[in-house]
Amino acid sequence: MYWASRRVSERRNLSFKAETRAAAGAALEVAAGKVERLATDHPDYFPLYTDQGRWKHGKEAWTNWCEGFLGGQMWLFHELGLGEDWRVRAEHYSKLVEERQYDDQVHDLGFVLCPTWKKWWELTGDDTRRQVVIQGGTTMATRFNTKGKYLRSFLAPDSIFIDIMMNVGIIAVAGLETGDQNLIDIAEQHCETTRKYLVRGDGSTSHEGIFDLDSGEFLRQTTQQGWRDDSSWARGLAWSLYGFTSMYSLTGNPHWLATAQLTADYWLEHTSGADPVPPNDFDEPDPVRRWESSAAACAASGLIMLASLATDDDQARRYHDQAEVTVARLCEPEFVAYEDAWEGVLKHGSYHEAKQLGVDESVMWGEYFFVETLARVVQAP
Ligand code: GLY
Repeated sequence: MYWASRRVSERRNLSFKAETRAAAGAALEVAAGKVERLATDHPDYFPLYTDQGRWKHGKEAWTNWCEGFLGGQMWLFHELGLGEDWRVRAEHYSKLVEERQYDDQVHDLGFVLCPTWKKWWELTGDDTRRQVVIQGGTTMATRFNTKGKYLRSFLAPDSIFIDIMMNVGIIAVAGLETGDQNLIDIAEQHCETTRKYLVRGDGSTSHEGIFDLDSGEFLRQTTQQGWRDDSSWARGLAWSLYGFTSMYSLTGNPHWLATAQLTADYWLEHTSGADPVPPNDFDEPDPVRRWESSAAACAASGLIMLASLATDDDQARRYHDQAEVTVARLCEPEFVAYEDAWEGVLKHGSYHEAKQLGVDESVMWGEYFFVETLARVVQAP
């Protein structure tokens, strides 16, 4: 069920309180109902975010990265035993994104192919599914800038995003599966560059970095979706936490475990003893909107994974406990749309505040990572 293949063995599998498991089970039922309704009302449609709670609208997408999250939720419902129909639906929605294995225009092939084709391969062991993942990783690797040693963002050749940490793993998987050392090196070098230029000393992260294309020299930190160039966009921090944890899980490189823990410690410093659901940016003074729930959903999933892998028992317990507090909060009616009128599951997510896209709405990746987190909770011992 996990994003990463877990080549590093889990050190522990911590349990959740009965009330958290019950809340997660109830939220999962709501989620399955909402996804079923979306697939019935709008077959083969891939929304990014709701508009006043409705999935179907004509608003801008900005970029093309969320098509794996619907099939991914369906695979999780199938894995959780919520009915045979989910396998059929999951296969169908995975096939709809099969061609994306060749898409070299975005940095998001991990988002598209890991919840769908990688999951399908892991559940069946089927080599044809594995080949799609390998091709996806190979395609992603063509975005590597050899001078700057980074995978370029969809936006421009001189741009690196923290988000790419959620996608670099598919290159590592392709390298590990084929024995292609060049692919493994590209994945490792991208992580090294991200660590060096986007992860700050206090564990906060920059959204974007800009390079000189002629020399490969790093020029500056900047942002697209955060508050300021020098601030810490909450979802970017969650992408970093989860992405470095996945890369440690895949490669066993202790540097990525240390980086994941550095970002996780920043997350905990800013969310422990307070509302565990952050605003869009940790540094924004008096944020207009209180929450960016998709960041919390992704961070909770990453913290559970990190708690299972951390070498120190006390640190692991802190990560796990904060994940549990976050899950409990996200399952409250403030966040879960138990009512039918709101078509998404998780309310109060934000896509792009500066562009006013999907602000204080349900967002498709928030839905996916919320369901993934809930699945981890109900499957824990
Ligand atoms: N660009 C991916 C995100 O909004 O997190």
